[in-house]
Amino acid sequence: LAMKMGVIGMGVMGKSLALNLAEKGVPVSLYNRFVEGKEEGIANKVLEENPDFANMLAFENLDAFLDSLERPRKILMMIPAGAAIDHQLDTLLPKIEEGDLIIDGGNSFYKDSERRVQRLHEAGMHFLPMGVSGGEEGARKGPSIMPGGNAEGYAMVADFLGRISAKDKNDKPCVTYVGPGGSGHFIKMVHNSIEYGEMQVLAELTHLLRFGFGCTPEEVSAIYSDWNKGDLKSYLLEITADILVFKENGELVLDQILDQAGQKGTGGWSLTTALEYGVPYSPLAEAVNARGVSGEKSMRMVLSEVFQHKFLPVTDKLDAWLPKIKQAYCLARIINHEVGFRLMKTVSEEKKWELNFYEIARIWTNGCIIRSGLMENISEHYSDSFFEMKGIKDSVISDRAALAELVGLGISHGFAMPVMSAGINYLLGRITSDSSASMIQAQRDYFGAHTYQRKDDPRGEYYHTQWNLE
Ligand code: 6PG
Repeated sequence: LAMKMGVIGMGVMGKSLALNLAEKGVPVSLYNRFVEGKEEGIANKVLEENPDFANMLAFENLDAFLDSLERPRKILMMIPAGAAIDHQLDTLLPKIEEGDLIIDGGNSFYKDSERRVQRLHEAGMHFLPMGVSGGEEGARKGPSIMPGGNAEGYAMVADFLGRISAKDKNDKPCVTYVGPGGSGHFIKMVHNSIEYGEMQVLAELTHLLRFGFGCTPEEVSAIYSDWNKGDLKSYLLEITADILVFKENGELVLDQILDQAGQKGTGGWSLTTALEYGVPYSPLAEAVNARGVSGEKSMRMVLSEVFQHKFLPVTDKLDAWLPKIKQAYCLARIINHEVGFRLMKTVSEEKKWELNFYEIARIWTNGCIIRSGLMENISEHYSDSFFEMKGIKDSVISDRAALAELVGLGISHGFAMPVMSAGINYLLGRITSDSSASMIQAQRDYFGAHTYQRKDDPRGEYYHTQWNLE
């Protein structure tokens, strides 16, 4: 027995990646733990459901699974992030050998991954914290893959990962060695944060179009499908258009879904990381906050009654607004991406990861959830001065007023637009040469003698004023 790879964890993602590997000619051993009455025969079930795959073996016994693997072993863990990963490593480490490779393909927090890279390094083994994006379908047919950590470990599986990943427009695999430490999981975290922002903008727009402009779901879907034919093309726009016409028993499923958003961590971790590194993050922070606010449904219902909250109908014609709505959407997306890339750039510099943003954007052009025409543009023209980038600068120039107007319209008609309004606020703050911060400095100096620097002093000395003249 010399199976080329082992996959631990037969949840949706583990199973799909295992089938993808087998299909691309990589003999693979499947392992799922045995938990009486709960998880029994799960790996075998994958074999039974996929009788056409001859190059798969299934195990519930960890030793037998490990025995089946070619040395040095290459093991992909697809299990929930958090303590489960450490427990699995506790069980695995005494049973494997120096030179073996373990990959964590889940959404682990990158700091946990850094610790684990170190732990396995000390044990003489390779560890690859690896972001995988694309959901079930992506994992099965071609995800975007973001491995970081041990470069030698990456070399051991680069061929396999290349085979199973999505391909970019030049047919290059959407996988690249991201960088050392937890950088692979770090960029996946930021990917998800941008994902949160992109989803929220579409949610905000859809609500305004339906309940402000009075569009039917079909009409909104048609608008999105139309946008999706041009520069605004994106996977999330496409699925949103689909969702808006998806019916069961004649009813729109969307309207049956409880309006409380869930989350598993990555969006919030991006926000705490941004705070830790002092990177302004308000637009994407608002995408996390919006999910939190939505969570309190019963309270919202009470307050809605108390304050008689209503969506006011927009009396203007949609036709007059539609070009502006499109412009606002375009710019809100650019801002979301700028914020995410800025966080990556800052952390990369501080941690000396030397992240390659052309490559990161390239592996995000296909397979992942935030694949889009915009990402294609970033992969070709990336610039540290993001807003000045080719294909982006024009939108910042010409779409600003539209975003501001649309946010004003939405808010004045009773619609919360947290990401779009944070976006325009953030942008205006970033492009003004005269911010309101002089007042903050004066106030700080007034009540706390915190001192300030002066515009007319190029040396940057600190000054204090005796403000209270009594
Ligand atoms: C992806 C997704 C995926 C993530 C889900 C759920 O890139 O395929 O980002 O990894 O787990 O989107 O995330 P939340 O539950 O936090 O929304």
